[in-house]
Amino acid sequence: MEERVLSSDAIANDVPFEQSLRPQTLSQYIGQDEVKKNLAVFIEAAKLRKETLDHVLLFGPPGLGKTTLAVVIANEMGVNVRTTSGPAIERPGDLAAILTSLEPGEVLFIDEIHRLPRAIEEVLYPAMEDYCLDIVIGKGPESRSVRLDLPPFTLVGATTRSGSVSAPLRDRFGVLSRLEYYTEDQLTNIIQRTAKILETEIEEKGAIEIARRSRGTPRIANRLLRRVRDFAQVRADGVITRQLADQALELLQVDRLGLDNIDHKLLKGMIEKFRGGPVGLNTIAASIGEEAMTIEDVYEPYLLQIGFLQRTPRGRMVTELVYEYFQLEVPER
Ligand code: ADE
Repeated sequence: MEERVLSSDAIANDVPFEQSLRPQTLSQYIGQDEVKKNLAVFIEAAKLRKETLDHVLLFGPPGLGKTTLAVVIANEMGVNVRTTSGPAIERPGDLAAILTSLEPGEVLFIDEIHRLPRAIEEVLYPAMEDYCLDIVIGKGPESRSVRLDLPPFTLVGATTRSGSVSAPLRDRFGVLSRLEYYTEDQLTNIIQRTAKILETEIEEKGAIEIARRSRGTPRIANRLLRRVRDFAQVRADGVITRQLADQALELLQVDRLGLDNIDHKLLKGMIEKFRGGPVGLNTIAASIGEEAMTIEDVYEPYLLQIGFLQRTPRGRMVTELVYEYFQLEVPER
């Protein structure tokens, strides 16, 4: 795969570094005001009643802070968080082992919860509802079921696809929160906060320039900030000005809307090979050599959000905005 600034694979590589930048409390967490306001009430109520917080399902595109929010929830409740993910849990026993090792009140964070196999999901139902496990011992007519008590816990599930979470699982969450793309102002604040932690001097206009090109996504904002900071240190006096941010982002091939070479390949490919669509997701993916799932989870949500793509029953279509953006003639349809 090409080296990419916005690659989600690469992001996982510097998790410890990323963690140190993460807000630890609701008051440090910038943006998602509706979600925070509600969570603050539910957390306070649970603490007043000395109960565990009800299970929380967070959904929204990648990089908007679902994992961060799980950590914040645990901190606010004064408990530890245990982290795993849907694809990491392969057998019902894996999940049973995690559940039985929880301390009372702990937060269990399951990322990509929509990727839990159905058989494993079923272990979660009684665990979420009654804090217990139903274990089947033996096979065939001899088998019997044993009930095992679990400590009370809070499950925080995260998914990029709310539509892929099965109804029985979704129904067992008491709190459902959708994370939205961040505004330019919020991203500017996040970039300024991160720069302070990194002890990097940044002018407000420099922060705004990075914010504008971060696709509404803090993970991308922080990543671009670190790359621009490299340029500032090596090519200038270390201060991130608007001009420096602009030059660095140009070299990083992040355009003025934050689109990178894969977005360009996708949009131009749709125009050149499929007359702008409608065209099916798998066809697009094959034609540009990307995974359909990556396009659907990582690229498409932002392109839909800024009105560059439309989903129709017959496939994806580019809108007139894309032709204007690339200064191409809008075809007759
Ligand atoms: N860093 C990444 N996301 C953040 C957020 N929402 N608030 C503050 N800092 C962040």
